Formats: sequence, structure tokens, C-alpha cells
Amino acid sequence: MGTMRSLLMQAVLTAALLTLGAAGAWAEDTAALYKSKCQACHGPDGKGDTAAGKKLGAKDFHSLEVAKMSDVELFDITKKGKDKMPGYDKKLTDDQIKDLIKYIRTLK
Ligand code: HEC
Repeated sequence: MGTMRSLLMQAVLTAALLTLGAAGAWAEDTAALYKSKCQACHGPDGKGDTAAGKKLGAKDFHSLEVAKMSDVELFDITKKGKDKMPGYDKKLTDDQIKDLIKYIRTLK
């Protein structure tokens, strides 16, 4: 019984460490998230000049129009959606969306 216990403890500890490791690598995670969820429309550089982005009317994240919007506005659009932009309310956590907005601002 004692061995079972310690095996269980070990599994719990390993899981906790894995979670911590994932949180530490946020930049990489956010880049991967952007790639898998946003890039198809917004493009690798955020210019929105992909086939889908052009068709749906995604703006260039570098444009004055987007630069003028606050992080809160961009957060709201990503969370709730706007016109053709799908909302990510159910698919991403608030923290993930915040990280993505920070990430978008760093795209060149
Ligand atoms: C299906 C295509 C599509 C996907 C996928 C998509 N977007 Fe968008 N996004 C749009 C379109 C189109 C707009 C412009 C909406 C408008 O202003 O009418 C937009 C607008 C935005 C805006 C507001 C600034 C702007 O350019 O108008 C932000 C911020 C944004 N998207 C972030 C994201 C993030 C973050 C993701 C991934 C989690 C994402 N988008 C995924 C199509 C998409």
C-alpha cells in the first residue's frame, strides 16, 4: 500500500511540474497558439494578406487604425468577435487572449 501511495504522489508531482513548465514557456506557447488559431486569417506577420484574410477583410495589425485601438478593445474583439472575426470566448482563456494581444503588438 505504501508503494502505491508514493507512486501516486510521484504522478501528481510530475503533473504539477509539467504544468509549471508549460506556464514558463508562454512566449513559445503564444506563438504556437497564434499559428494554429489566428494565422490563417491574420498571416504570420499580422498583415492579414492571406487568402482568407483578404476575403473576410482582416486589417493589418500594423495599420494606424489598429495601432489606435487599446489593448482592451483588441481583447474584446478577440473574445467576442466582430463581423467576420470569430469570437474565442469559449476556446481561449482570458489570459491566453491577453498574451495573444501582447504577441500581436510585437509582430513586425
Ligand atoms: C476566420 C478568420 C479569422 C481568424 C481565424 C481570426 N481572425 Fe481576427 N479578425 C478577422 C477579421 C475579418 C477581422 C476584422 C473585423 C472587423 O473589424 O470587421 C479581425 C479582427 C481582429 C482584431 C481587431 C483588430 C483588427 O485587425 O480589426 C484582433 C485583435 C484580432 N482579429 C485578433 C485575432 C486573434 C488573436 C485570433 C486568433 C485567436 C484571430 N484574430 C483569428 C478574421 C479572423
